Order: sequence, then structure tokens, then C-alpha cells
Amino acid sequence: MAKRISILGSTGSIGCQTLDVIKDYPEEFQVLALTGRKNVSLLAQQVKTFQPELAVLTDPEAARQLSRLLHGQTTRVLAGEEGLLAAATYPGTDLLVTAVVGFAGLKPTLAAIDAGIDIALANKETLVTAGSIVMQRARERKVDIIPIDSEHSAIFQCLQGNEPGDLQRIMLTASGGPFRNYSKEELAGVSPEQALKHPNWSMGAKITVDSATMMNKGLEVLEAHWLFPLPLTSIEVLVHPQSVVHSLIEFKDGSILAQLGPPDMRFPILYSLTYPKRWSNNLPKLDLVGRELAFTAPDLERFPCLAYAYEAGEKGGTMPTVVNAANEMAVAAFLQKKIGFLDIPRVIRQVMDLHQVRKNPDLDAIFSADTWARQETQGIIRTISGIS
Ligand SMILES: NC(=O)c1ccc[n+]([C@@H]2O[C@H](COP(=O)([O-])OP(=O)(O)OC[C@H]3O[C@@H](n4cnc5c(N)ncnc54)[C@H](OP(=O)(O)O)[C@@H]3O)[C@@H](O)[C@H]2O)c1
Repeated sequence: MAKRISILGSTGSIGCQTLDVIKDYPEEFQVLALTGRKNVSLLAQQVKTFQPELAVLTDPEAARQLSRLLHGQTTRVLAGEEGLLAAATYPGTDLLVTAVVGFAGLKPTLAAIDAGIDIALANKETLVTAGSIVMQRARERKVDIIPIDSEHSAIFQCLQGNEPGDLQRIMLTASGGPFRNYSKEELAGVSPEQALKHPNWSMGAKITVDSATMMNKGLEVLEAHWLFPLPLTSIEVLVHPQSVVHSLIEFKDGSILAQLGPPDMRFPILYSLTYPKRWSNNLPKLDLVGRELAFTAPDLERFPCLAYAYEAGEKGGTMPTVVNAANEMAVAAFLQKKIGFLDIPRVIRQVMDLHQVRKNPDLDAIFSADTWARQETQGIIRTISGIS
């Protein structure tokens, strides 16, 4: 019987690559539900190709347009958060790929876990903001959380057949982004267009900017802390510009395992879909002959976002939620050219300094912290950009 897959964020970078993988195995996978925010034409095209039972656009006007376009077809169209939750919990789903970007991924992921649906997790912000609650609920519901992020997939793959309790250190690799060698002065002047040109990976806009500030690696450190049983002090970052070694783990006997592959998200996506099996595929394979692989420590002075993420993780409680919200808003403002590149860490720092951490927050406290942080960030961005 085919494995039944639903995808939240199918019109995004991870969503499209997931469908690209799925299309090569028409007998093995069936697509049940697809969602986007407002990309009508792409979702209509995906519906035509994959014939899901449900298609959702969270933007109501876009959903109306999709409904008109799909008139007479069997695929049901829904809108808004209600639609997103319906797709997340769609009856009969064996595996939900969560590839929405940002905090918007939290509610539907939790709803799917509550419905007992296994998760292939790309949306790292879910674990960054509510890792304790998400992992606890997944354990209670015996739901698998299979990481898609290439670094976490690498660690997850290296752990197969090993005792998680024997793990003593994680080394998350980071490309260092397009500005790895830039001075602080050069960083001050970079434009969104430059930040959106990642040297190795092709990704959505938010994560591409996060890679340039290295906040992406900070979010990944927090994500790893929830997925794997290690304190933050045992999760290190190694700058590895070639993006060939996707991460390494060290066991208590000092042995290190690493997972390697081309910088192509379709590999970890495929593994999340086939886990615990491995399937043959037609993806271009890695040739190591003549390749040099380098590893250096990150520069936290030029890339303070990484240090802020560690600090948020150490403070715990609502602080990671606040850092995530401030980062989402600051990145959006940078992309809209309202603030500069170095204002992103500046804004995050200011919001962190204003926040009174609430320990052991429940879900309501996490949502309140997110709302509070967005309001504060908005004010700070207005001041910086001179908008009153
Ligand atoms: N891209 C990568 O290589 C990569 C690698 C590792 C992890 N990730 C993680 O995977 C997630 C997705 O990244 P991405 O690069 O695929 O992002 P993306 O290209 O920006 O796609 C985001 C998807 O979410 C939808 N969306 C955006 N805002 C939404 C909202 N408020 N409510 C509901 N849906 C919304 C978008 O719909 P529209 O298209 O209609 O706007 C799109 O389908 C992120 O958490 C990222 O950190 C990505």
C-alpha cells in the first residue's frame, strides 16, 4: 500500500523538493493534502499533477481564486488557519511534512502530533519556540519526529544502530553563508539581493538570510538540543564552507561518525520519507576525488546571532520564542529594505534585553511571548527605519 503523505508549505522550497522526490515513486506514495499561503498558480499546478484530496491556501482571497481555478475537480479547497489545521490532521495521513516557514508551523505540527501522525520536520521554528512541549507530546502520542534539516538528518542517520546515551558531542556544520569572509564594515553595507545568494544551497528567502547572519545555525543548535539528548554546551558549530559533511557526532569512546552527501535537500527529504529504509534514487551522487574539506570555528563577533541563540537556549523558558519572533520580524524588515543587515542582530539584542523570561511556559505563555516580542520588535524597527 502506498504511503500517504501530506505537506504543509508545498509551494515553498522544501515543499517543492518533497514533491520532486515523490514524483519519482508514483506507486509508493500518495499525496493527500497540500498547503501554501498565497501562491495560487503553483498550488493549482501541484493539484493537477498530484491530485490531492485537499488543497489549502491560508490567504482567503488566494483560496477563493484557487477554488475558482479548480472548479469541477475533486480536490476540496479550504482557507485560513482552519484549513491548515485540517490539512495537518487529514484523516489517513501516514506522514506529515511540515515545511511552512516560521512560528506559523507550531500549531499545525502540534495538531498533527495530537492526531497521532508521524512528522517529517523541516520547520525548525517549531522546536526552537516550543521544543519541550512538542517533544513531550510526541513521546506521549508515540509519534516519530524525523528531521529534514540536513544537519539533523545527518545526526539522526549517524545515530541509527547506536545508543543515544553513548552520544557525547554534536558538531553541526555551517557553510558560513555568503558573507563568511566579510569584515564588519563590509557586512554593514550588504543588500537583501546579496544576502539571498547562498553559495551552496537554494532555499526560501527567510532561511537564506538566516544563513547569512548565522541565526540559522543558532536555530539549528536549539533544534538539535530538543531532538537529541545533549546539553547546549555539547552542541558545537563548525564552519565547513563546502557543505559536504552535513554534521558529525562523537560517542563517549571518542569515535566520530559523520554523514556526507552533495548539498541537495532531496537526500534528507527522501530519507525522511523512507525511514527506516533507504531507497535507490536518481539524484546526482557525491564525488570526493580532489575535494578539500575544511573546518573552522565560527566568528561570534562578526556573527553575533549565533551567540544570541546559545544565550537564549541557556536562559530557556520563553527566551528562544522571543529571539525567534524578533528574528522573523527583523529579517522581514531587512528584506523590505527598512533596516540594514547589521540591524538584524541589533534588533534581536534589544528585544532580548527587554524580555523577562518566563520559565517552564505552557503553550499560552509561548504564544503570549511571541506576540509581545513581535510588538516590541515592530517598535524598535520603526525607530531604526525612521517610520513613526
Ligand atoms: N529550504 C531549505 O533548504 C531548508 C533546509 C532546512 C530547513 N528548512 C526549513 O524549512 C522551512 C521551510 O523553508 P523553505 O525554505 O521551504 O521556505 P519557503 O520557500 O519560504 O516556503 C514556505 C512555505 O510556507 C508557506 N507559508 C509561508 N508563510 C506561511 C504562513 N504564515 N502560514 C502558512 N503557510 C505559510 C509558503 O506559502 P507561499 O509559497 O504561498 O508563500 C510556502 O509554501 C523553514 O522552517 C526552514 O527553516 C528549509
